[in-house]
Amino acid sequence: MLSYRHGFHAGNFADVFKHILLCRLVQSLLGKDKPFFYLDTHAGAGRYDLTSVMAKKNREFNGGISRLWEKADAPEAVRDYLAVVRAINPTEELQAYPGSPLFVRHFLRPADRMMLCELHSKDAEYLKEEFARDRQVSVQMLDGYHGLKAYLPPIQRRGLVLIDPAFELKDERARLLEALTEAYKRWSGGIYAIWYPIQDRQTVDWFHRQLIRSGIRNILSAELKIYDEEMPLRMNGTGMIIVNPPWQLDGQLEAFGPWLWQAMSQQGQGGFKVNWLVPE
Ligand SMILES: C[S@@+](CC[C@H](N)C(=O)[O-])C[C@H]1O[C@@H](n2cnc3c(N)ncnc32)[C@H](O)[C@@H]1O
Repeated sequence: MLSYRHGFHAGNFADVFKHILLCRLVQSLLGKDKPFFYLDTHAGAGRYDLTSVMAKKNREFNGGISRLWEKADAPEAVRDYLAVVRAINPTEELQAYPGSPLFVRHFLRPADRMMLCELHSKDAEYLKEEFARDRQVSVQMLDGYHGLKAYLPPIQRRGLVLIDPAFELKDERARLLEALTEAYKRWSGGIYAIWYPIQDRQTVDWFHRQLIRSGIRNILSAELKIYDEEMPLRMNGTGMIIVNPPWQLDGQLEAFGPWLWQAMSQQGQGGFKVNWLVPE
């Protein structure tokens, strides 16, 4: 039984970080005419109502998208991201927040395809409704780790996989590492983006060490922390692993990361860091 609902967290600082990076990765795929494939293993509901009881319970979006919504000096990478949020909020007021599937769908060309896996029955239902008449998008109520086996390698031969679990299970990281290693054996040329929370450093270091030992090449990590002190029960920061990052992504991240950190860090704590875990 899954208890996690992304609706409580939609638009928080971790979502902002993840979705800006996601938009960057999609932009890099648009640089070539050949169609691409996108697999979202933990797709969520697709779209979130920020006026709902769920979103308003802790108003996490106040520490995330609300802090960017009216910024006039956003760097290009952030402007691409904001364009998608604006597209689903046609009035000036911020009322809805797109999930990862809607961010990617915004940029898709007619020959590109996306496959979405979501295991929570209610969120899978919302996702199916969202894309019911969309022939470029397929939604499966399926374990995303099984999805990696079922849909990789894709016929398009180029593309992006987002692995964005809820981390509510104790063995999530171990399961993720096993599934990623298997997926990479089947399709070593794909871009993989893996989101993770930063609660305590020890857990993150363990996760990084396992990645370094996995045999996977070309692994970049980017981290945004908004607190100096690491309190294990709080999300102190957020990170993304990128396997096979597009050329010059590290430089792009270094360029807009500090701006993003400044916008997200409420007390000027934490920081932004880009680090190669395994070179090419
Ligand atoms: C962090 S949320 C995803 C958010 C979404 N990717 C976004 O950025 O908008 C994680 C989602 O994974 C779903 N989930 C949990 N375990 C899963 C699994 N094994 N396979 C597929 N979905 C799963 C949860 O129901 C939840 O909706």
